[in-house]
Amino acid sequence: MSSTPKTDALMRRGAAFLGTDHAILCGAMSWVSERNLVAAISNAGGFGVIACGAMTPELLDAEITATAALTGKPFGVNLITMHPRLFDLIQVCADHKVGHVVLAGGIPPKGSVEAIKAFGAKVIVFAPTLALAKKLFRSGADALVIEGSEAGGHIGPVSTSVLAQEFLPSLAEDHIVFVAGGIGRGEMIASYLEMGASGVQLGTRFACASESIAHPAFKAAFFRANARDAVASVQIDPRLPVIPVRALRNKGSDEFIAKQREVANLLDQGAVDMAAAQLEIEHFWAGALRRAVIDGDVEHGSLMAGQSVGMVTKEEPVATIMGELMG
Ligand SMILES: Cc1cc2nc3c(=O)[nH]c(=O)nc-3n(C[C@H](O)[C@H](O)[C@H](O)COP(=O)(O)O)c2cc1C
Repeated sequence: MSSTPKTDALMRRGAAFLGTDHAILCGAMSWVSERNLVAAISNAGGFGVIACGAMTPELLDAEITATAALTGKPFGVNLITMHPRLFDLIQVCADHKVGHVVLAGGIPPKGSVEAIKAFGAKVIVFAPTLALAKKLFRSGADALVIEGSEAGGHIGPVSTSVLAQEFLPSLAEDHIVFVAGGIGRGEMIASYLEMGASGVQLGTRFACASESIAHPAFKAAFFRANARDAVASVQIDPRLPVIPVRALRNKGSDEFIAKQREVANLLDQGAVDMAAAQLEIEHFWAGALRRAVIDGDVEHGSLMAGQSVGMVTKEEPVATIMGELMG
């Protein structure tokens, strides 16, 4: 007999879709969501998701094998749509009979949803607007994550509470919708479930669990931080687009502004063309998350974190966090 019958009832549809006890996904976090955290989440009754990020198909193959050795429970794989070898990565998921593939980072390219469904997996997508969400469901997506600007990592401009009010009334009855961004406590989960969500996705709250391999300095920065420390990166020149990233403010954030100014000046002088300038901006953060998560460089690396970071105060096992959220 479950100790949380009311929440279980509200989560039934999402849990059945994921094949889990609880309809709580731990959103893929590059470098953080590897075998140890993913298996711990799934073993605790949630749904772990491997962050493929920029991995090669060979590395993804090894990561899936290693994760499956640590858990017999379902877990998923998150693929970034602009990965140059997306279809090879899908093939790796097919070889392992991965049950759920999350397509993140943009509109799924032609044929990708079909390629995933062809081996029987469920496809989970993101959509920034209601119209696009409906289109993706018509094209075969099985579930949707709506993610508000409170979240850690790459974000859109609209808050989770507004997205939930916009999307859930028209989609939740007929479709599986998970809500993400800024969720730190069980009461918040309950309220989105009451609004019709099938479940939720959290990242920040799980990033510093005992099973997370994140560097102790990365975790310590989370424990020190308040909601207001998790800020969105800013774009300073209209010619140089920056997809906002929410992260803890550090020297790296200031250096990013200086970098944009430097590149804008080079553009003004005609020293670089637009393509080279944009590439330089994009490259600035490449590797920055790894520097913080793995090397523990919390000054210059990227400390991606959502506004719920203030509710992350100590290292706890995933099962404890999951129990607290469910309770
Ligand atoms: C450190 C970090 C890294 C992340 N990396 C990714 C990623 O590689 N791919 C992705 O789709 N989402 C990524 N996210 C977003 C999470 O999957 C999740 O949707 C988000 O953290 C949920 O919001 P929350 O942080 O408010 O809980 C990342 C988030 C964090 C905090």
